Amino acid sequence: MSGLFDPLRVGELALPNRIVMAPMTRSRALPDGSVPQMVADYYAQRADAGLIVSEAIYVSPMAKGYLSTPGLADDAHVAAWRRVTDAVRAKGGRMFAQLFHTGRVAMPEFLPDGAQPVAPSAVAIDGVTWTSGGQKPHVTPRALAENEIPGVADEFAAAARRALEAGFHGVEIHAASGYLIHQFLDASINQRRDSFGGSVENRARFLLMTVDRVAQAVGRDRVGLKVSPRIKFNDVRDPDAEAVYPYVAEQLSARAIAYLHGAQQGGYDTHAALRPRFKGLYFAGAGFDRASGEALLAAGGADAIVYGAPYIANPDLVGRFRSGAALAQADKATIYGGGEKGYVDYPFAS
Ligand SMILES: Cc1cc2nc3c(=O)[nH]c(=O)nc-3n(C[C@H](O)[C@H](O)[C@H](O)COP(=O)(O)O)c2cc1C
Repeated sequence: MSGLFDPLRVGELALPNRIVMAPMTRSRALPDGSVPQMVADYYAQRADAGLIVSEAIYVSPMAKGYLSTPGLADDAHVAAWRRVTDAVRAKGGRMFAQLFHTGRVAMPEFLPDGAQPVAPSAVAIDGVTWTSGGQKPHVTPRALAENEIPGVADEFAAAARRALEAGFHGVEIHAASGYLIHQFLDASINQRRDSFGGSVENRARFLLMTVDRVAQAVGRDRVGLKVSPRIKFNDVRDPDAEAVYPYVAEQLSARAIAYLHGAQQGGYDTHAALRPRFKGLYFAGAGFDRASGEALLAAGGADAIVYGAPYIANPDLVGRFRSGAALAQADKATIYGGGEKGYVDYPFAS
């Protein structure tokens, strides 16, 4: 039985506690996808988390899906992230880079030469997204050709190598939230008839290929992966989540990656489904406070608890949990985008 303040070994890494800072997009990157100094300050303030997982970072120019989001697609990005990891390490912290490809969530204006976004199938998101010209309906993506798909997995591997070069301790593959890997898993989105569509095994092929190539690039004990079955976001449906996610957990278990991160955010009992099927470390996220996190750890339902929203206004979340101090509430107006206000100016309790 363990608690939030017990240490945890993740591969070679020794976490001083089991409080993980969730990946959270805050949209402070420069137009070229590199992160400014305030991003280093923000993460360094939170360096006493057992582990920080960065905001989602696009792996290649075709992977970008939002304004003001960061990349790890070139050397300039590496140099910018190096400042962040140096600042976190100087405070004694540990940090993984969350890597993503947004697939059909992207809009042409974010992509090279205004390209059409790519996805498993030409199925558009029913909804709108933010662009430089305000909210616009999503566009219909182009279905990736079967022989293009391994190249996309290679983009994740190349970005993972850059992440280590930039000083991250490891990477978290983003297979959640309706982005490209999740789009392959979801039968309502993936309508392919080749080796990447149809059966559960086929729909999970891109995910597992990506895991294998990333693990080969940086070592399996530096690789985590996040899923969020049936999340109500980006038009995710996951009609057969009961078949997909147990299979994914077992396949990841066989590959012995560092951890599996499950966000329980839809109508699916993610933790109960994944925990028994994945023999490595299981990180449970979404909706936890201190008490419910402690309770799940005590029951053996997870090895660490992932906290997102509470970290926005509480840079000293670990200290507040330890002392029982009240949590501050975030200002919703400054969550996404803008400058230092609402980003690096939330006070410490003591
Ligand atoms: C502002 C914000 C940005 C987020 N960005 C990401 C992201 O970049 N990648 C990701 O996997 N999840 C993202 N999430 C989801 C969180 O990682 C987490 O799963 C979710 O907030 C539920 O945990 P919580 O209840 O502790 O906030 C984001 C959540 C918030 C609140």
